[in-house]
Amino acid sequence: MAEFALPKNSKITKKGKVHKTPGAKEPKSFKIYRYDPDTGENPRYDTFEIDLADCGPMVLDALIKIKNEQDPSLTFRRSCREGICGSCSMNMDGKNGLACTTSIEDCKGELRITPLPHMDVIKDLVPDFTHFYAQYASIQPWLQTVSPAPSGKERLQSPDDRNKLDGLYECILCACCSTSCPSYWWNSDKFLGPAILLQAYRWLADSRDEMTGERLDELEDPFRLYRCHTIMNCSNVCPKGLSPAKAIAEIKKMVVERQI
Ligand code: SF4
Ligand code: SF4
Ligand code: FES
Repeated sequence: MAEFALPKNSKITKKGKVHKTPGAKEPKSFKIYRYDPDTGENPRYDTFEIDLADCGPMVLDALIKIKNEQDPSLTFRRSCREGICGSCSMNMDGKNGLACTTSIEDCKGELRITPLPHMDVIKDLVPDFTHFYAQYASIQPWLQTVSPAPSGKERLQSPDDRNKLDGLYECILCACCSTSCPSYWWNSDKFLGPAILLQAYRWLADSRDEMTGERLDELEDPFRLYRCHTIMNCSNVCPKGLSPAKAIAEIKKMVVERQI
């Protein structure tokens, strides 16, 4: 349910540490959200000044440099460092994105980095995806059929039908969209949110799937689907250039069309 005030233990109450780089040729400051559940302390912002003359171009490069050279306890997720795995999603200068594909140069002045908004924080920049993944599992994201598969062959799909999955299959489940969505902030317990709805549409749009009716039955719900009010934050923020809002509109259209 919607909560309009931060819980007491989430409030920033004390000054963070400042790490300087004396003699830096191109100094740049990063103000980074820190939270360590083991200390029992409230979160804080630490400031790290690094030398961009000796750093890669992306925000993830800066985070790795800070971890390697200034504070090994800084915690964040990353894997592929090329926008494929979705694990380095975070909020940079007020906008959700992938740290590995966000250029430091595009962020002027001190760069503030926080975890994705409105998710529980495990540590520092690492949000808890448990609920998000449970919602993903709830849409049964795999091909479901009732007819027997052609003997010894794959289920074929025409090039035109395959093209209908473009703009959907590329989703990397980074949750940048869902955590930018005001409806998801207030109702994430019941609303599936843009990422999961885009994934749901990926299976509705697949010509080989034979569970369309059952999938729509599951989605047709005032909260699961209809909490989307077409605010469009999701499509504006997706680092893969996808449009969850469009996918949601397609699902709503399918629900209406089957009633006619
Ligand atoms: S279009 Fe819908 S899902 Fe996307 S941000 Fe707006 S309310 Fe959320
Ligand atoms: S639709 Fe875009 S922003 Fe949303 S989870 Fe998928 S890749 Fe991330
Ligand atoms: S590290 Fe994989 S998307 Fe950024």
